[in-house]
Amino acid sequence: MQQASIHSKDRGGMVSQSPPFAVPIRYMTFGIVCFGIFAMDLAFQSHHLASGDPGAPALVALTHMLTLGSLLSFVMGAVYQLATVAFLIPIANVPLARINFWLYSLSLIGLFISMSLWWASGFLLFGGLAVVALFIYAIVMLRSLTQVKVKDVMWGFVVSAHVYLILAITLAIVLVSVDSGAMNALSPWMNQLIATHILLAAVGFFSFLLIGFSYKLLPMFTLAHGYQTKWHRWTLILAHSAMLFLLLGIWSSMILFSWFGLVAGVCVIVLQALSLKDMVRHRMRKKVEAPIHAVFYALAAGLLAIGLFSVASVTGGRQVSWKSVVTLYLLGWVTMTMMGFAYKIVPFLIWSKRYSHHKGPGKAPVIADLVNVSTSRPVFIGFALGVVTLTAGEIRMWLPLTVFGAILTAFAILLFCIQMFRVLDLKKLGKELSDHD
Ligand code: HEM
Repeated sequence: MQQASIHSKDRGGMVSQSPPFAVPIRYMTFGIVCFGIFAMDLAFQSHHLASGDPGAPALVALTHMLTLGSLLSFVMGAVYQLATVAFLIPIANVPLARINFWLYSLSLIGLFISMSLWWASGFLLFGGLAVVALFIYAIVMLRSLTQVKVKDVMWGFVVSAHVYLILAITLAIVLVSVDSGAMNALSPWMNQLIATHILLAAVGFFSFLLIGFSYKLLPMFTLAHGYQTKWHRWTLILAHSAMLFLLLGIWSSMILFSWFGLVAGVCVIVLQALSLKDMVRHRMRKKVEAPIHAVFYALAAGLLAIGLFSVASVTGGRQVSWKSVVTLYLLGWVTMTMMGFAYKIVPFLIWSKRYSHHKGPGKAPVIADLVNVSTSRPVFIGFALGVVTLTAGEIRMWLPLTVFGAILTAFAILLFCIQMFRVLDLKKLGKELSDHD
């Protein structure tokens, strides 16, 4: 049996190579703020979600407030922090990573407004700037990752994720150009282009990244040692195969390729579930906490999304069915996994900054004093019920169910944001960030 253990040199989430606190926390805080805005917009737009018009400007803007505003912002901050811990490398260009935050956040706000108003010039300007900011991020990370000495499966997942991100945003600029009328010749292929963009970004980037980092984060959060790693390499090979077959399916319209891709996707999720289960079995922590349970529910949501995708491809997939697959995949699998990890990452980062060198009188708080993770249970239950109801409402195109699901999801997200803001303590954070600049 191959053995695995956590690195002894790191202190759970902080190493000597870690970037200054202001770099990751700014991206993560912006991500949490955007998550709250997404929740309110989701409740506000819920009546559109049942109407079967996935390309409606307000919905495209809503999708990108989730994917770019909350998920990608949070991910960028988390990756700048975790890559140094997982791979024991410094970030290649910290000043650039720091400045890029402003380019990214401003372009994101402009892009959101442009998408909502379907404003062609805004699309080109802010879409272009967002793509530049994402290129900078991906290149800084890929340059950092070349310094890694032991290029294991986790490294393979994380590098692949960033390569897929570069491909996804290259395609995004083509989509922006077609939508703004600058590249009309490509409009006959718009459906394939959008499908490829979603596949590269949602599956290629987010899923590869989450699977890769979970090989480090789950053992770190459960204190697991001696678990099996023999499935990890197969998971990576199957994940790339799924991408390849799904791409062939999109561009050749041969359903057989899509089916191969789906089978490979199911195998990836099953192997991932087995790997994570084995880590949990080898844990030293007594209790399995709610955020860790959520990571498993997220895998079930991923499986359900693949099931829905299969049904949609057999039934001819009215567009609304594809939309519900994307909703379930992005919210159920990507977002829920990230929420699970956020309950562990954010408190740790704050604790390390504020209390790890505590010298003054009195006892320093421990991480559990910053957040009681059992309070995340109602968040995950509400979120899971909301997402399932929302997806069912979208499939049935039944307005009351869709609106109910969207509002329940939005409430759960807002509760999550409130809990995160309590941990961050925005007043203290504002001072810490201004001291740093
Ligand atoms: C990397 C993360 C990204 C993800 C996960 C993502 C996801 C999606 C999804 C799911 C759609 C389908 C529309 C919908 O369901 O509402 C879409 C379409 C689109 N995305 Fe992205 N996207 C990402 C990045 C970007 C970026 C950086 C840009 C622009 C700079 C962009 C521009 C577009 C455009 C123009 C469309 C087509 C809208 C239409 O004509 O219907 N995306 N994206």
